Amino acid sequence: MNNTLIIYGTKFNSTKKVAEIIKDKTPNSTIMSKLEFRKLKNLNDYSRIIIGTNVIMGTFNGAIKKFIRKHHKVLITKTVYGFILGSNIAMAAKYEAKLQKITNAKQVVFVGGIINPTLAKGLYKKMMEGVLLSLKENKQPVPSINYSMLNQFINRINHE
Ligand SMILES: Cc1cc2nc3c(=O)[nH]c(=O)nc-3n(C[C@H](O)[C@H](O)[C@H](O)COP(=O)(O)O)c2cc1C
Repeated sequence: MNNTLIIYGTKFNSTKKVAEIIKDKTPNSTIMSKLEFRKLKNLNDYSRIIIGTNVIMGTFNGAIKKFIRKHHKVLITKTVYGFILGSNIAMAAKYEAKLQKITNAKQVVFVGGIINPTLAKGLYKKMMEGVLLSLKENKQPVPSINYSMLNQFINRINHE
């Protein structure tokens, strides 16, 4: 049996959205948010683990980092894939290499991200507005999810 566990760490739900797309296209898969995956005692029920995280101020989601530390020894024995949500395309390769290293993943993909100030409050809202303004001033595109990259990733996962 090829049971797949998909876990995600999110703050503004774009990583959740991508995790749900992967879940919909992956047979025999289970999806868990941090409320569920942090209660997992072991990964015995799963042969493949797909780990999704956002990047906020240069770091991966805290609950995801904890999961990786907790299950580190077992992850090495599983087929692992990773996906990353972020807006800084210039850092994509570095983020991918980092997640690959700590999870021993077969493949990690950076799929872009979403910055939508209407989803945030207070300081986060201000920070998002600041990021969008500076991108605009530098004539950079508004961040978005790269669906063709995501679909390639899903195809690869399900045809290997
Ligand atoms: C306060 C803040 C800091 C961020 N820092 C980074 C960063 O360091 N690198 C990056 O690539 N993206 C950064 N982003 C962009 C997020 O990764 C992007 O919005 C992503 O889609 C968020 O995922 P989530 O909706 O699952 O939380 C930042 C976004 C916010 C709001």
